[in-house]
Amino acid sequence: MTDNNEVLFVGIDLGTSRSAISASNGQRCAVDSYVGWPVDMVARKILRRSVLVGKEALDNRSMLDLRRPLERGLLKEGSERDADAVRQLLSHLLGLVGVGEEGRSGVKVRAVVGVPAEALRVSKQQLRNVMKGLVDGLLIVSEPFAVAYAVDALLHALIVDIGAGTTDLCVMNGRYPTEGDQRTLLNAGDWVDEQLSKLIQAHHAEATISPFMVREWKERAAFVGKAKGPVIVSAPVKGKPTQLDITEEMRTACEGLVPPLAETMIDLIAKVDPEYQEKVRNNVILAGGSTGIAGIDRALQEALKEIGGGRVQIVKDPVFVGSDGSLAIATDADDVDWEKLSG
Ligand SMILES: Nc1ncnc2c1ncn2[C@@H]1O[C@H](COP(=O)(O)OP(=O)(O)OP(=O)(O)O)[C@@H](O)[C@H]1O
Ligand SMILES: [Mg+2]
Repeated sequence: MTDNNEVLFVGIDLGTSRSAISASNGQRCAVDSYVGWPVDMVARKILRRSVLVGKEALDNRSMLDLRRPLERGLLKEGSERDADAVRQLLSHLLGLVGVGEEGRSGVKVRAVVGVPAEALRVSKQQLRNVMKGLVDGLLIVSEPFAVAYAVDALLHALIVDIGAGTTDLCVMNGRYPTEGDQRTLLNAGDWVDEQLSKLIQAHHAEATISPFMVREWKERAAFVGKAKGPVIVSAPVKGKPTQLDITEEMRTACEGLVPPLAETMIDLIAKVDPEYQEKVRNNVILAGGSTGIAGIDRALQEALKEIGGGRVQIVKDPVFVGSDGSLAIATDADDVDWEKLSG
Protein backbone atom coordinates (compact mmCIF):
# COMPACT_ATOMS: atom_id res chain seq x y z
CA MET A 1 0.00 0.00 0.00
CA THR A 2 2.73 2.42 0.92
CA ASP A 3 5.91 2.95 -1.00
CA ASN A 4 8.76 2.58 1.48
CA ASN A 5 10.69 5.38 -0.20
CA GLU A 6 8.09 7.88 0.87
CA VAL A 7 7.91 6.72 4.46
CA LEU A 8 10.04 8.18 7.21
CA PHE A 9 10.23 6.00 10.29
CA VAL A 10 10.86 7.55 13.65
CA GLY A 11 11.45 6.10 17.10
CA ILE A 12 10.58 8.33 20.03
CA ASP A 13 11.46 7.82 23.67
CA LEU A 14 9.01 9.97 25.60
CA GLY A 15 10.58 10.42 29.02
CA THR A 16 9.75 12.32 32.17
CA SER A 17 12.96 14.32 32.17
CA ARG A 18 14.41 13.75 28.72
CA SER A 19 12.94 12.67 25.39
CA ALA A 20 14.80 11.44 22.34
CA ILE A 21 14.03 10.81 18.69
CA SER A 22 15.85 8.63 16.15
CA ALA A 23 14.78 8.81 12.50
CA SER A 24 15.36 6.57 9.50
CA ASN A 25 17.00 9.55 7.74
CA GLY A 26 19.89 9.13 10.18
CA GLN A 27 19.07 12.06 12.46
CA ARG A 28 18.99 11.72 16.24
CA CYS A 29 18.18 14.35 18.86
CA ALA A 30 17.43 14.52 22.57
CA VAL A 31 15.67 17.29 24.47
CA ASP A 32 14.79 18.00 28.09
CA SER A 33 11.10 17.19 28.54
CA TYR A 34 10.01 20.69 29.47
CA VAL A 35 7.55 23.05 27.81
CA GLY A 36 7.01 26.62 28.98
CA TRP A 37 4.76 29.55 28.14
CA PRO A 38 5.74 33.16 28.98
CA VAL A 39 3.89 34.13 32.17
CA ASP A 40 3.06 37.71 31.23
CA MET A 41 3.59 40.58 28.83
CA VAL A 42 7.11 41.34 30.12
CA ALA A 43 8.23 37.73 29.66
CA ARG A 44 6.68 37.65 26.18
CA LYS A 45 8.51 40.82 25.23
CA ILE A 46 11.85 39.43 26.40
CA LEU A 47 11.44 35.95 24.96
CA ARG A 48 9.61 36.97 21.75
CA ARG A 49 7.99 33.54 21.52
CA SER A 50 4.66 32.02 22.48
CA VAL A 51 6.13 28.72 23.66
CA LEU A 52 9.58 27.31 24.48
CA VAL A 53 10.64 23.66 24.54
CA GLY A 54 13.58 21.74 26.00
CA LYS A 55 16.70 23.29 27.52
CA GLU A 56 15.63 26.72 26.36
CA ALA A 57 12.47 26.39 28.45
CA LEU A 58 14.45 25.15 31.44
CA ASP A 59 17.01 27.96 31.16
CA ASN A 60 14.30 30.63 31.04
CA ARG A 61 12.09 29.04 33.69
CA SER A 62 11.75 32.16 35.83
CA MET A 63 9.77 33.79 33.01
CA LEU A 64 7.66 30.77 32.15
CA ASP A 65 4.75 28.65 33.19
CA LEU A 66 6.95 25.56 32.99
CA ARG A 67 5.45 22.08 32.57
CA ARG A 68 6.71 18.53 32.33
CA PRO A 69 4.35 16.57 30.07
CA LEU A 70 4.91 13.37 32.06
CA GLU A 71 4.86 12.88 35.78
CA ARG A 72 5.37 9.67 37.76
CA GLY A 73 5.19 7.62 34.59
CA LEU A 74 1.92 9.03 33.29
CA LEU A 75 0.93 11.68 30.79
CA LYS A 76 -0.38 14.60 32.78
CA GLU A 77 -3.98 15.49 32.20
CA GLY A 78 -6.26 17.92 33.89
CA SER A 79 -5.72 21.16 32.08
CA GLU A 80 -5.57 22.07 28.41
CA ARG A 81 -1.98 23.26 28.99
CA ASP A 82 -0.95 19.78 30.12
CA ALA A 83 -2.35 18.23 26.94
CA ASP A 84 -0.77 20.96 24.84
CA ALA A 85 2.60 20.39 26.55
CA VAL A 86 2.79 16.80 25.23
CA ARG A 87 1.80 17.96 21.77
CA GLN A 88 4.38 20.76 21.77
CA LEU A 89 7.12 18.38 22.90
CA LEU A 90 6.32 15.71 20.29
CA SER A 91 5.91 18.27 17.54
CA HIS A 92 9.27 19.82 18.53
CA LEU A 93 10.98 16.41 18.40
CA LEU A 94 9.53 15.69 14.95
CA GLY A 95 10.64 19.14 13.82
CA LEU A 96 14.20 18.36 14.90
CA VAL A 97 14.38 15.47 12.40
CA GLY A 98 12.74 17.52 9.65
CA VAL A 99 9.12 16.39 9.83
CA GLY A 100 7.52 19.03 12.02
CA GLU A 101 4.00 20.26 11.36
CA GLU A 102 5.17 22.50 8.50
CA GLY A 103 7.85 20.30 6.98
CA ARG A 104 6.06 17.06 6.14
CA SER A 105 5.21 17.79 2.49
CA GLY A 106 4.22 14.41 1.08
CA VAL A 107 6.34 12.32 3.43
CA LYS A 108 4.44 9.70 5.38
CA VAL A 109 5.64 9.48 8.95
CA ARG A 110 5.32 6.31 10.96
CA ALA A 111 6.26 6.62 14.60
CA VAL A 112 6.92 4.13 17.35
CA VAL A 113 6.64 5.86 20.71
CA GLY A 114 8.12 4.27 23.80
CA VAL A 115 6.52 5.33 27.09
CA PRO A 116 6.82 4.17 30.71
CA ALA A 117 5.03 0.81 31.11
CA GLU A 118 2.35 2.41 33.28
CA ALA A 119 1.57 5.09 30.68
CA LEU A 120 1.05 2.33 28.13
CA ARG A 121 -1.83 1.07 30.26
CA VAL A 122 -3.32 4.36 31.35
CA SER A 123 -2.39 7.11 28.88
CA LYS A 124 -2.51 5.32 25.51
CA GLN A 125 -5.67 6.96 24.20
CA GLN A 126 -4.46 10.38 25.26
CA LEU A 127 -1.20 9.85 23.38
CA ARG A 128 -3.07 8.66 20.30
CA ASN A 129 -5.14 11.83 20.28
CA VAL A 130 -2.01 13.96 20.55
CA MET A 131 -0.25 12.12 17.71
CA LYS A 132 -3.21 12.59 15.36
CA GLY A 133 -2.20 15.13 12.78
CA LEU A 134 1.48 14.81 13.65
CA VAL A 135 2.10 11.36 12.13
CA ASP A 136 0.35 8.92 9.78
CA GLY A 137 1.02 5.65 11.54
CA LEU A 138 1.57 4.96 15.21
CA LEU A 139 2.68 2.17 17.50
CA ILE A 140 2.97 2.68 21.25
CA VAL A 141 5.33 0.38 23.13
CA SER A 142 6.73 0.22 26.64
CA GLU A 143 10.15 1.81 27.21
CA PRO A 144 11.88 -1.31 28.52
CA PHE A 145 10.64 -3.28 25.51
CA ALA A 146 12.16 -0.67 23.19
CA VAL A 147 15.45 -0.98 25.11
CA ALA A 148 15.34 -4.79 24.83
CA TYR A 149 14.81 -4.44 21.09
CA ALA A 150 17.73 -2.02 20.72
CA VAL A 151 20.25 -4.26 22.48
CA ASP A 152 18.82 -7.48 21.02
CA ALA A 153 17.94 -8.85 24.45
CA LEU A 154 14.60 -10.32 23.46
CA LEU A 155 15.11 -13.74 25.02
CA HIS A 156 15.99 -14.59 28.65
CA ALA A 157 16.79 -11.05 29.72
CA LEU A 158 15.66 -8.62 32.39
CA ILE A 159 15.62 -4.95 31.41
CA VAL A 160 15.69 -2.36 34.19
CA ASP A 161 15.19 1.20 32.92
CA ILE A 162 15.95 3.60 35.78
CA GLY A 163 14.65 6.93 34.53
CA ALA A 164 13.41 10.08 36.24
CA GLY A 165 9.74 9.45 37.03
CA THR A 166 9.83 5.67 37.03
CA THR A 167 11.95 2.58 37.00
CA ASP A 168 10.49 0.20 34.45
CA LEU A 169 11.33 -3.47 34.61
CA CYS A 170 10.54 -6.02 31.95
CA VAL A 171 11.42 -9.70 31.55
CA MET A 172 11.91 -10.76 27.95
CA ASN A 173 10.83 -14.32 27.16
CA GLY A 174 11.18 -14.21 23.39
CA ARG A 175 7.71 -12.81 22.79
CA TYR A 176 5.88 -9.55 23.21
CA PRO A 177 5.90 -8.81 26.98
CA THR A 178 2.58 -9.14 28.78
CA GLU A 179 1.52 -7.04 31.77
CA GLY A 180 2.77 -9.75 34.12
CA ASP A 181 6.27 -9.47 32.63
CA GLN A 182 6.49 -5.76 33.46
CA ARG A 183 6.61 -3.61 36.57
CA THR A 184 6.75 0.11 37.17
CA LEU A 185 8.22 1.57 40.35
CA LEU A 186 8.18 5.21 41.39
CA ASN A 187 11.65 4.74 42.87
CA ALA A 188 13.75 6.51 40.23
CA GLY A 189 15.68 9.75 39.70
CA ASP A 190 12.95 12.19 40.83
CA TRP A 191 12.42 10.12 43.96
CA VAL A 192 16.16 10.28 44.73
CA ASP A 193 16.00 14.08 44.25
CA GLU A 194 13.14 14.32 46.76
CA GLN A 195 14.96 12.18 49.33
CA LEU A 196 18.17 14.13 48.86
CA SER A 197 16.33 17.44 49.27
CA LYS A 198 14.71 16.28 52.50
CA LEU A 199 17.99 14.97 53.92
CA ILE A 200 19.89 18.16 53.07
CA GLN A 201 17.14 20.30 54.56
CA ALA A 202 17.14 18.19 57.73
CA HIS A 203 20.91 18.51 58.21
CA HIS A 204 21.47 22.03 56.87
CA ALA A 205 18.21 23.75 57.78
CA GLU A 206 19.69 27.22 57.28
CA ALA A 207 20.59 26.62 53.60
CA THR A 208 18.23 27.63 50.77
CA ILE A 209 18.05 24.96 48.07
CA SER A 210 15.91 24.42 44.97
CA PRO A 211 14.95 21.15 43.23
CA PHE A 212 17.06 22.18 40.23
CA MET A 213 20.18 22.66 42.38
CA VAL A 214 19.63 19.29 44.05
CA ARG A 215 19.27 17.51 40.72
CA GLU A 216 22.43 19.13 39.42
CA TRP A 217 24.39 18.03 42.51
CA LYS A 218 23.05 14.52 42.14
CA GLU A 219 23.98 14.30 38.45
CA ARG A 220 27.49 15.42 39.33
CA ALA A 221 28.17 13.19 42.31
CA ALA A 222 25.59 10.41 42.72
CA PHE A 223 26.96 7.18 44.17
CA VAL A 224 26.17 4.11 46.22
CA GLY A 225 28.70 2.22 48.36
CA LYS A 226 32.12 3.75 48.86
CA ALA A 227 32.48 7.48 48.15
CA LYS A 228 35.28 8.53 45.76
CA GLY A 229 35.70 11.67 47.82
CA PRO A 230 33.60 14.15 49.79
CA VAL A 231 30.64 15.72 47.99
CA ILE A 232 30.90 19.45 48.62
CA VAL A 233 28.33 21.85 47.18
CA SER A 234 27.60 25.53 47.51
CA ALA A 235 24.23 26.93 48.61
CA PRO A 236 23.20 30.30 50.01
CA VAL A 237 22.80 30.64 53.77
CA LYS A 238 21.01 33.95 54.51
CA GLY A 239 22.14 35.05 51.05
CA LYS A 240 25.80 34.15 51.54
CA PRO A 241 27.25 31.33 49.36
CA THR A 242 28.28 28.58 51.79
CA GLN A 243 29.97 25.20 51.29
CA LEU A 244 28.06 22.16 52.49
CA ASP A 245 29.31 18.60 52.80
CA ILE A 246 26.45 16.39 51.54
CA THR A 247 28.39 13.11 51.11
CA GLU A 248 26.26 11.09 53.55
CA GLU A 249 22.99 12.58 52.32
CA MET A 250 23.96 11.66 48.74
CA ARG A 251 24.81 8.09 49.70
CA THR A 252 21.63 7.57 51.71
CA ALA A 253 19.35 9.04 49.01
CA CYS A 254 20.94 6.96 46.21
CA GLU A 255 21.13 3.76 48.23
CA GLY A 256 17.41 4.05 48.91
CA LEU A 257 16.85 2.90 45.32
CA VAL A 258 18.57 -0.44 45.77
CA PRO A 259 16.15 -2.41 48.03
CA PRO A 260 12.93 -1.76 46.05
CA LEU A 261 14.68 -2.38 42.72
CA ALA A 262 16.38 -5.56 43.92
CA GLU A 263 13.15 -6.88 45.42
CA THR A 264 11.22 -6.34 42.18
CA MET A 265 14.04 -7.85 40.08
CA ILE A 266 14.05 -10.96 42.26
CA ASP A 267 10.26 -11.14 42.15
CA LEU A 268 10.21 -11.02 38.33
CA ILE A 269 13.03 -13.56 38.02
CA ALA A 270 11.18 -15.93 40.38
CA LYS A 271 8.23 -15.91 37.97
CA VAL A 272 10.34 -17.07 34.99
CA ASP A 273 10.22 -20.79 34.04
CA PRO A 274 12.68 -22.47 36.44
CA GLU A 275 14.95 -23.80 33.68
CA TYR A 276 15.52 -20.29 32.33
CA GLN A 277 15.96 -18.35 35.59
CA GLU A 278 19.74 -18.64 35.63
CA LYS A 279 19.96 -17.26 32.08
CA VAL A 280 17.82 -14.28 33.03
CA ARG A 281 19.81 -13.64 36.23
CA ASN A 282 22.96 -13.49 34.13
CA ASN A 283 21.43 -11.15 31.59
CA VAL A 284 20.23 -8.12 33.56
CA ILE A 285 20.47 -4.96 31.50
CA LEU A 286 20.31 -1.50 33.04
CA ALA A 287 19.27 1.58 31.04
CA GLY A 288 18.10 5.11 31.83
CA GLY A 289 19.81 8.24 33.09
CA SER A 290 19.87 7.11 36.71
CA THR A 291 22.43 4.42 35.78
CA GLY A 292 24.76 7.42 36.16
CA ILE A 293 24.67 6.71 39.92
CA ALA A 294 28.18 5.31 40.43
CA GLY A 295 28.11 1.72 41.70
CA ILE A 296 24.39 1.06 41.07
CA ASP A 297 25.19 -1.89 38.77
CA ARG A 298 27.48 -3.49 41.38
CA ALA A 299 24.94 -2.96 44.17
CA LEU A 300 22.16 -4.64 42.17
CA GLN A 301 24.46 -7.48 41.12
CA GLU A 302 25.35 -7.96 44.79
CA ALA A 303 21.66 -8.17 45.68
CA LEU A 304 21.21 -11.03 43.18
CA LYS A 305 23.53 -13.17 45.34
CA GLU A 306 20.48 -13.89 47.48
CA ILE A 307 19.09 -15.98 44.60
CA GLY A 308 22.35 -17.53 43.40
CA GLY A 309 24.10 -14.56 41.81
CA GLY A 310 23.89 -12.94 38.39
CA ARG A 311 25.36 -10.44 36.00
CA VAL A 312 24.24 -6.82 35.69
CA GLN A 313 25.40 -4.60 32.84
CA ILE A 314 24.69 -1.01 31.83
CA VAL A 315 23.83 -0.29 28.17
CA LYS A 316 26.39 1.65 26.15
CA ASP A 317 24.23 4.51 24.92
CA PRO A 318 21.65 5.31 27.61
CA VAL A 319 20.45 8.53 25.94
CA PHE A 320 19.44 7.02 22.61
CA VAL A 321 18.95 3.35 23.40
CA GLY A 322 15.17 3.77 23.80
CA SER A 323 14.60 5.83 20.65
CA ASP A 324 16.96 3.63 18.61
CA GLY A 325 15.01 0.58 19.79
CA SER A 326 11.72 2.22 18.85
CA LEU A 327 13.15 3.06 15.42
CA ALA A 328 14.24 -0.56 14.94
CA ILE A 329 10.71 -1.72 15.85
CA ALA A 330 9.33 0.80 13.35
CA THR A 331 11.47 -0.44 10.47
CA ASP A 332 10.71 -4.10 11.31
CA ALA A 333 6.94 -3.67 11.77
CA ASP A 334 4.61 -5.06 9.11
CA ASP A 335 1.98 -2.91 7.43
CA VAL A 336 -0.72 -4.57 9.55
CA ASP A 337 0.98 -3.65 12.81
CA TRP A 338 0.50 0.07 12.28
CA GLU A 339 -2.35 1.96 13.71
CA LYS A 340 -3.39 4.39 11.02
CA LEU A 341 -4.13 7.87 12.24
CA SER A 342 -5.04 9.50 8.94
CA GLY A 343 -5.84 8.84 5.30
N1 LIG B 1 25.16 11.33 36.10
C1 LIG B 1 23.99 11.05 36.66
N2 LIG B 1 23.93 10.50 37.88
C2 LIG B 1 22.75 10.22 38.46
N3 LIG B 1 21.56 10.46 37.90
C3 LIG B 1 21.56 11.01 36.67
C4 LIG B 1 22.75 11.33 35.99
N4 LIG B 1 22.43 11.86 34.79
C5 LIG B 1 21.09 11.88 34.74
N5 LIG B 1 20.55 11.37 35.86
C6 LIG B 1 19.14 11.25 36.21
O1 LIG B 1 18.52 10.39 35.28
C7 LIG B 1 17.13 10.76 35.20
C8 LIG B 1 16.78 10.91 33.76
O2 LIG B 1 16.94 9.68 33.14
P1 LIG B 1 16.20 9.33 31.78
O3 LIG B 1 16.55 10.35 30.76
O4 LIG B 1 16.43 7.91 31.48
O5 LIG B 1 14.72 9.54 32.30
P2 LIG B 1 13.40 9.68 31.48
O6 LIG B 1 13.40 8.71 30.37
O7 LIG B 1 13.20 11.10 31.13
O8 LIG B 1 12.37 9.29 32.60
P3 LIG B 1 11.30 8.13 32.63
O9 LIG B 1 11.88 6.96 31.91
O10 LIG B 1 11.09 7.90 34.09
O11 LIG B 1 10.10 8.71 31.96
C9 LIG B 1 16.97 12.06 35.97
O12 LIG B 1 16.41 11.80 37.25
C10 LIG B 1 18.40 12.56 36.08
O13 LIG B 1 18.59 13.38 37.21
MG1 LIG C 1 12.97 6.79 30.06
